[in-house]
Amino acid sequence: MATAMAKRLEGKTILVTGASSGIGRSTAKEFARTAPKNLKIILAARRVDTLKEIAQEIKEEVGDGVKVLPAKLDVSNPEEVKNFVSSLPAEFQDIDILVNNAGLVKGVAQAPNIDPQDVDVMFSTNVTGLINMTQAILPIFKKRSEGGRGDIINIGSIAGREPYPGGSIYCATKAAVRSFTDALRKELIATRIRIIEIDPGQVETEFSVVRFYGDKSKADAVYAGCEPLTPDDIAEVIVFAAGRRENVVIADTLIFPSHQASPGAMHRKV
Ligand SMILES: NC(=O)c1ccc[n+]([C@@H]2O[C@H](COP(=O)([O-])OP(=O)(O)OC[C@H]3O[C@@H](n4cnc5c(N)ncnc54)[C@H](OP(=O)(O)O)[C@@H]3O)[C@@H](O)[C@H]2O)c1
Repeated sequence: MATAMAKRLEGKTILVTGASSGIGRSTAKEFARTAPKNLKIILAARRVDTLKEIAQEIKEEVGDGVKVLPAKLDVSNPEEVKNFVSSLPAEFQDIDILVNNAGLVKGVAQAPNIDPQDVDVMFSTNVTGLINMTQAILPIFKKRSEGGRGDIINIGSIAGREPYPGGSIYCATKAAVRSFTDALRKELIATRIRIIEIDPGQVETEFSVVRFYGDKSKADAVYAGCEPLTPDDIAEVIVFAAGRRENVVIADTLIFPSHQASPGAMHRKV
């Protein structure tokens, strides 16, 4: 017996950006597990070889009911984003759910010492990339009845609500995601398009390794004495939000591990 959530998701085409690691990878797998009979998932990221491995893992876990397409995409490249949908095989073009997850943080520098390249990469990925992806997919949604149908699930962060020292640019990008998301929901009020924001607290992924330019020991120190969320924890919330009845919009969420109450309020075991 399929669950109500599985029935609602069946037949959908889902695009997950940043699917090669962490939350994106877990999200693709959780969708596949939840509706294993009839689903299409597009895995997008720059590391296409990793995406191919994940596609194989999904096939081994749930079988052939889920069709998975690994697709190379750099969301910070506006041309690539613009041509992305038309480059997909026809059977994957009718996207129902976009998970705007690709994102990153670089460094902990404070003004005036922030590398302008880091500023550029964070804004062009987290903000412009997310906006361009949304603009590329919305026309597909808007062709559907009642003004349009489909889900846009934006991955924000606690950082977008409460900025912290050493994270000024990343926090600014996530605050921008929050503003864009809230405005979009209002703009699309007369449609069936659901605009959903998921804001995680601390999650252990490659995120901190990227922040410290590949220095794993510095990344590990971030989680010392803590029990961070896993990417699966966030994936479950994303899939839950997408799996609600059409008239139910999980507009906004904030998800912490139990030891965290803000970016700085963190209980560490000694
Ligand atoms: N981990 C946390 O504590 C935390 C907390 C709050 C919010 N978040 C947010 O959650 C999202 C996922 O992060 P994560 O924690 O899962 O980190 P992660 O393990 O480093 O995964 C980030 C993903 O984004 C992709 N990506 C980065 N730049 C890209 C680009 N230009 N084009 C396409 N894909 C790109 C990466 O793939 P490629 O390198 O293969 O392109 C990777 O798949 C991000 O938006 C992040 O800001 C994370």
